[in-house]
Amino acid sequence: MFPLRNSTPRQISLLTAFLLAIPESLILWWVEKRWGWAIICFVVVFGISYLLISIMLERFVYRQIKLIYKFIYKTKATRKEETYYKYLIPKKTIEEVGVDVENWAAENEKELELLRHNEQFRHEFLQNLSHEFKTPVFAIQGYVDTLLDGAVQDPETTKRFLERTSKNVERLTHLLNDLDQIAKLERGEILLTKDPFVIQELIREVYDSRQSKADAKEIRCQIKKDSESPVTVFADREKIRQVLNNLVSNAIKYGKQGGEVVASIYRTDGKRILIEITDDGVGIPESDLPRVFERFFRTEVGRSMDLTGSGLGLAICKHILEAHAQTIHVRSTEQVGTTFGFTLEAKPD
Ligand SMILES: Nc1ncnc2c1ncn2[C@@H]1O[C@H](COP(=O)(O)OP(=O)(O)OP(=O)(O)O)[C@@H](O)[C@H]1O
Ligand SMILES: [Mg+2]
Repeated sequence: MFPLRNSTPRQISLLTAFLLAIPESLILWWVEKRWGWAIICFVVVFGISYLLISIMLERFVYRQIKLIYKFIYKTKATRKEETYYKYLIPKKTIEEVGVDVENWAAENEKELELLRHNEQFRHEFLQNLSHEFKTPVFAIQGYVDTLLDGAVQDPETTKRFLERTSKNVERLTHLLNDLDQIAKLERGEILLTKDPFVIQELIREVYDSRQSKADAKEIRCQIKKDSESPVTVFADREKIRQVLNNLVSNAIKYGKQGGEVVASIYRTDGKRILIEITDDGVGIPESDLPRVFERFFRTEVGRSMDLTGSGLGLAICKHILEAHAQTIHVRSTEQVGTTFGFTLEAKPD
């Protein structure tokens, strides 16, 4: 009559009461041979059994299930939830209750996974942070101690040590500024001031500001021949300067002696402009490519070539471009070179 496996308590009570009432009324009919008595007997037995069974089920089984639901929903039941417990839960089949509990468990597992991930992230962040701070602070301590121990008598050594101390203080300041900037970007505190500007002009300004670094490695910085006709983008000029500053200084830092850095500009779909900065330097191992935009991430070769970087530059670039609703990507081959590309909104007509 009912699919037993998937029955609600009400259906179970009805079925059991029916099964109990039928043989008794049949026996009465067989003994007394009166239909009226048999029907009355059926109604009475059915009614009483139904009441008793449903009360028992409600008391002993569904009260426990109610407890499970209270646990699942954690908070104190509101009036609406109380109604839900009272009238709706008893209508659910055990199988449906099972599904609810399984969903809850899966949901909880997801939450736990997220917490574990955040915990690991926090742990790695603190570890990286202390590592980045440790190196310059210990170096400064070393120089100051040596000077205090008597080296200060020799003006030549004093000058050298103070210069190195100053370099390390500069590194700490750079690190603190980057951290401050990243925290502000993540909190969404930095507002963008978008204006139209010619991207080639900004690239030339950035090249000029990095000229001495490029000269020191005899690197030529240029704009690709067919990318020279002015392209106007619509973005926060100073923030994009920061992106270009990091990409160009990376290209010089990790570029090869006597090599070149080339900027290319492409119109993609009329709405976006693609800007690429390419170098012919050491490149990035394929396995490291997915991680270069992570905070503090630096490749082995990167670390050995440049002692002052913090590995925050690209993370800041990514944040700035995401704030513009744009993207940044990288292509690279070891010992061949690297291309970083990012998109910007084309100036609206
Ligand atoms: N053009 C490039 N060629 C080769 N490796 C690169 C290049 N750009 C970035 N990398 C690698 O990616 C890492 C992360 O770059 P990012 O700009 O975030 O940090 P950084 O340059 O080391 O330090 P910071 O920019 O904070 O001074 C670098 O340390 C380097 O290992
Ligand atoms: Mg950098």
